[in-house]
Formats: sequence, C-alpha cells, structure tokens
Amino acid sequence: MKKLLLITLLVGFMFQLTYSQNKIWDETEAQKTKRLEWWTDARFGMFIHWGLYAQPARHEWVKNYERITNEDYQKYFEIFNPDLYNPTEWAKKAKAAGMKYAVITSKHHEGFNMFDSKYTDYKVTNTPYGKDIIKEWVDAFRAEGLKIGFYYSLIDWHHPDYTIDRVHPQRVNTKEEYDALNKGKDMAVYREYLKNQVREILTKYGKIDILWLDFSFPGEFGKGRDDWGSVELIKMVRQLQPDILIDDRADLQDYAGGWDFMTPEQYKVDKWPEIDGKKIPWETCQTFSGSWGYYRDEYTWKDNKQLLVLLIESVSKGGNVLLNVGPTARGAFDERADKALSGMGDWMKLNDRSIYGCTQAPESFVAPDNTILTYNPKTNRLYVHLLDYPLQKLRLPGYQGKVKYAQFLHDASEILMSEPRSHNRGGDNKGTGDLDLSLPVAKPNIEIPVIELFLN
Ligand code: GLC
Repeated sequence: MKKLLLITLLVGFMFQLTYSQNKIWDETEAQKTKRLEWWTDARFGMFIHWGLYAQPARHEWVKNYERITNEDYQKYFEIFNPDLYNPTEWAKKAKAAGMKYAVITSKHHEGFNMFDSKYTDYKVTNTPYGKDIIKEWVDAFRAEGLKIGFYYSLIDWHHPDYTIDRVHPQRVNTKEEYDALNKGKDMAVYREYLKNQVREILTKYGKIDILWLDFSFPGEFGKGRDDWGSVELIKMVRQLQPDILIDDRADLQDYAGGWDFMTPEQYKVDKWPEIDGKKIPWETCQTFSGSWGYYRDEYTWKDNKQLLVLLIESVSKGGNVLLNVGPTARGAFDERADKALSGMGDWMKLNDRSIYGCTQAPESFVAPDNTILTYNPKTNRLYVHLLDYPLQKLRLPGYQGKVKYAQFLHDASEILMSEPRSHNRGGDNKGTGDLDLSLPVAKPNIEIPVIELFLN
C-alpha cells in the first residue's frame, strides 16, 4: 500500500515536472482567449511577401530553386529601389478589402533585411532605396488602424554561419559533403544573430501584434528548435511583447505558450482543427496565385468567388484567412492583385457582418445544400451564404420555431418565411419542422448573397 502511494506520488511529480518544463508562458485558457479576441473577431488579414526576390519575379524561393550563390544574387541588392512604394496606399487597399490586420516579411529565406538592423549590412538601408521600409510600412498601416505583424524567416540563405541544410540553395547529398561544406560555420553565431534581430524588430517599432516565424524542418539535414534556440527565443518574445500572437512554426508544438495559432498553408481544412479533442485557433495563409513573392509569369489566379468562399468557409470552421499580396520591385501591387482585392472589398462592404465576430454555427443548425453557415454568438444571428442561388424557395431543415426574422444582409430587405406546404416538392412536408424562405427570382447583384437570420 505504502509502495503504491509512493509510486503514485512519484509519477505525479514527474508529470508535473515535464509539464512545467514544457511551459513558456503562464496563462489560463480564458486569458488566452481574451488575448486572441481581436484576432478571432477580425478573421481577415493581409500577408505581404516583399524582398529582393520581387526583381527576378519568379518565386520568392528563386535563390533555392535555381541554386543561386550569394555572389550571383548580389545584383538584386545593388539595384533594389522601389520608387513607387507608398505604404499608405497599400494600407487603404487592405482596409477597403475588409482586412483588419497585416503581416509583412521583415526578412525572408533569402536573408535580406527590409529593416534597418545593426547586426548586418545586408539590409534595405544599404540599397539604392536607402530607407527603412518596415518603419514606413508600420507607420502607414498603424495610421490606417490596422494591426501590425512581422514575418521573420528562421531560415537564412545568406548568413555566413547558417549551415547548409536540405532546403538550402547549396544543398548536397551525403553527410560527407555536408560536413565539408559546413566546416567553419557556427550555428551558435547565427542563433545569436536571429535572436538579436527578433529583439530589434520587437523593440524598434512600438507595439507589434503578431510575430510570424517561418519555418522548421527537423530531421536529417534539417533544422528545428535547437538550431533556432526556439525556447529562449519565444521566452524573449513574450517578455518583450506580452500581448503578441505567435504562429506555430518554431517547432514548439508541445510547449504551453510556444505558439498561439495553427497555420494551414495553401489548403482548406476539412473541419475545425483540434488537439486532444480541443478546438484550436487557426489561420490559413493563402496566395492569389501559386507563389508568395511577385511572380510575373504565374497565371493560376483564384477568382473572386473562390476567394470569397475561402474566407466564408474558413470562418464557418472557426478560422482566419491571411491572404497574400506580392508587391512588384517598384513597390506597387500589380493589377491582378488590385482586382482581386477590390472584388473582395465589394462583397465585404455589404456583407462583412457575416465575417467579423463570426464563427462556426451551433451544431443544431444544418446547412441547406450549396450554402455555408456562419454565426455570431454575441448577436445570436445566423448567416446563410448562397453559393448557388436557389429558385424562389430555400428550405431550412428543422429551423421552424428557431427564427424570429429573416432578411438579405446586403440591403436589409425582408425575406418572408413560411411552413412548407404539403404539396410542395412532391412530398408531405408538413410537420417536418422545416422552414421555407421565399426568395426573389432574380439573384441580387452580389457574388454570394447572404441571408441574415435573427434567431430566437
Ligand atoms: C512557406 C514558404 C514561404 C512562405 C510561407 C508562407 O513556408 O517557405 O515562402 O513565406 O510558407 O506561409
């Protein structure tokens, strides 16, 4: 008996020990929800991938894909001069599209710094442009009332002490080859550089709302938490900016406080992602076309409806969308990006109530065919998004008695409700608990019309 008690105590103690070891940040679930509240309400943000790679204009991974050396990549540094750069204009476009926050690349994998860092010469202030792009960007976006985020690449294809790995432009095949190439390189030096730079971006520009670190690839010839010094790094970040939101790519998934939200990239989730049965905050990051940086010859652009469905569907599963623009090397959004943004803005202007503050609908509400539901728990309103406009009647299965009033969201015009009549659609629909909505024959001039239901 005594032995059993001792074992139980010991196991309990060890559990406590591992748990407290894997803890970076002390906060309750409720505190975390509160900290993330502005972001979960906002639902929609702009990602901006901008760097030297805008000049080759054939993917932000061009240095890797074409195995370009530092020497050959240098020509982009020497001519970088975005003469049309006007971040106020960018911020206004983001806002007009309905976006509430924005995240910009302060450094991407190429290693070039878009900000003025005292730890390197490889930075924008040493190019012909000569000014701190990040500072101008922060001032402009903040002035427009948008929340501010920094993407910072953990990967660095320029720093001399960053060891060659399997995603490096100079990657090789065997251990011997890697050892030979990495002789004399010291990741500890890079680790320090990375920490210093993250400290810089989090202390020079005021309150930063999001830090987007990218990315880890543990395993053979890969890199993960120990290479980045992730635990120390995130501890520092939390200390410097206690309200900040951090993505999940520093390889600390098993650490409490090691990350705040999940980042499904370029795919739609099937359902609200869960860990141990608990729904978790998530944001999908997506491009208009295939690449993040400006890619002149890429033509697989998503259309307006696809982009809207992406946003609505994400909200319907409790998530956010971070939609990317890759500005040109002159510092402008190209016309395709402008068109995509304004298409979303046209819809958002009249329908954003079904997005902001909304989330997954309660399980008791089933989505009719070809519709997506979102729900605002504060106002108790349900939004039915009509992906394929029905002919005159929309049947809401089992909604009878649950709805007080129905209207189109875009013009607040009433939609009449009725109990299905028995001869309708050839079946006996009386007593089913369904509810019919009478829609006008002509589809309103809205890409995806939304019906707003005031619930009982
Ligand atoms: C990836 C890519 C990158 C892009 C990022 C955005 O990890 O490496 O180019 O910045 O995803 O999510």
